[in-house]
Amino acid sequence: MTDTLTMPERASKATVTDSLSVTDNRTGKTYEFPVSEGTIKATDLRKIKTSDDDFGLMTYDPAYMNTASCRSAITYIDGDKGILRYRGYPIDQLAEKASFLEVAYLLTEGELPNAAQLDKWTEDIRYHTYVHTNIIKFLEGFRYDAHPMGMLLGVVGALSTFYPDAKHIEDPANRYVQRVRLLAKLPTLAAFVFRHSRGLPYEFPRNDLDYVGNYVNMMFSIGGKHEPNKVLQRALEILLILHADHEQNCSTSAVRAVGSSHVDPFSAVSAGIAALYGPLHGGANEAVLQMLDEIGSKKNIPAFIEKVKSGEGRLMGFGHRVYKSYDPRAKLIKQTADQVFAETGMNPKLEVALELERIALEDEYFIKRKLYPNVDFYSGLIYQAMGYPTDYFTVLFAVGRLPGWLAQWEEMLMDKDQKIARPRQIFIGKDERNFVPMNKRA
Ligand code: CMC
Repeated sequence: MTDTLTMPERASKATVTDSLSVTDNRTGKTYEFPVSEGTIKATDLRKIKTSDDDFGLMTYDPAYMNTASCRSAITYIDGDKGILRYRGYPIDQLAEKASFLEVAYLLTEGELPNAAQLDKWTEDIRYHTYVHTNIIKFLEGFRYDAHPMGMLLGVVGALSTFYPDAKHIEDPANRYVQRVRLLAKLPTLAAFVFRHSRGLPYEFPRNDLDYVGNYVNMMFSIGGKHEPNKVLQRALEILLILHADHEQNCSTSAVRAVGSSHVDPFSAVSAGIAALYGPLHGGANEAVLQMLDEIGSKKNIPAFIEKVKSGEGRLMGFGHRVYKSYDPRAKLIKQTADQVFAETGMNPKLEVALELERIALEDEYFIKRKLYPNVDFYSGLIYQAMGYPTDYFTVLFAVGRLPGWLAQWEEMLMDKDQKIARPRQIFIGKDERNFVPMNKRA
């Protein structure tokens, strides 16, 4: 198989006649394993034993750096070529032409909706936007300075107690209702969390508005009034689309792993929110703004770049584990940033960011290491210009990522190969020893 083939091409070329021969030098035995879709089955390695009571060979793969944990038909990424597709559709076409709800339908239901399907989907979601007012009592229990993500994961988890029917995950119609409930209620909860942080009264959903319009209205309406800005709303919608799925990332893997215990989807999604809360996952755009603050003005950029090159810190918003030519989302975000800043005006941070990007892209250090702006380089600046506080950025990411979590949850449940997630370990602790009474302990 050649490296110039894309993953689907590799998959279609691979047949069960492809195989891998392995000789175990401990025993001299040779084994042959089928290679299919560019992988061998890890459980096949268990056949490699040194004796009958040997458990069999395992692989050691912390952080799943080289383990496919599932077969998935949802999102395709080719990091070297900068490709991202949802269900086959290139991300730039979706960002340009689709609404967030269309993309959510595409991801969760498998195909783009026709007009009648989209009407029903929109109507179903609109019908479920309200949350039980007891949720407000939960929110009131949070301190005034509670982190929005901490509150969000708490209230989404709490929703499972309001919908005990959601535990019937074996029923497809029931799963559809819960998907709709989550998509409908997450913007309401996300807006409530924001209002709580600001000490503002909660603004209830307005079902005469579209999905994004209603969300923004619940965030910013004061005294029942909010003047919508269509350019900013479309920019937010594009950002939500760009974040809607990214295959087996940390939060998605968390949703799949927790969902594999057959818990209800509210609990599984709150695990995804918890994973996203971490600074290594959802928090990088916040770090970009801190970095721009630290740099302060354009004249300080060369010294900052030198510091990064000498190993003192990183250029936040640059580099990606998967994308090594460019992050296709970053290109689209840059265009969106231009539209947003044409509305809101330039700010000093943006000027620093543009200059920083220009200098870094011409610098040998970054070129050699294939370091390009990623999705987070401009998204924080855009959110800030739209009026969102820094600690709220990850909540916007969660609202965007929800369709991906739900699509992956459904796919995991339907996949006959899946079982409860339960990795193995290499035990490195003490061998058996006898209990030591307190008076004998050192
Ligand atoms: N600034 C300076 N040097 C960097 C950077 C950076 N942002 N990223 C990587 N490098 C260097 C790194 O020091 C190493 O150099 P050397 O070979 O001399 O030791 C080389 O590039 C390879 O780095 P790595 O750590 O092996 O690369 P990775 O693929 O493990 O890391 C990354 C990917 C995203 C964690 C990293 O690029 C990084 O820390 N970036 C800054 C944080 C950031 O922007 N994170 C958001 C990622 S996008 C989020 C999403 O997709 O959801």
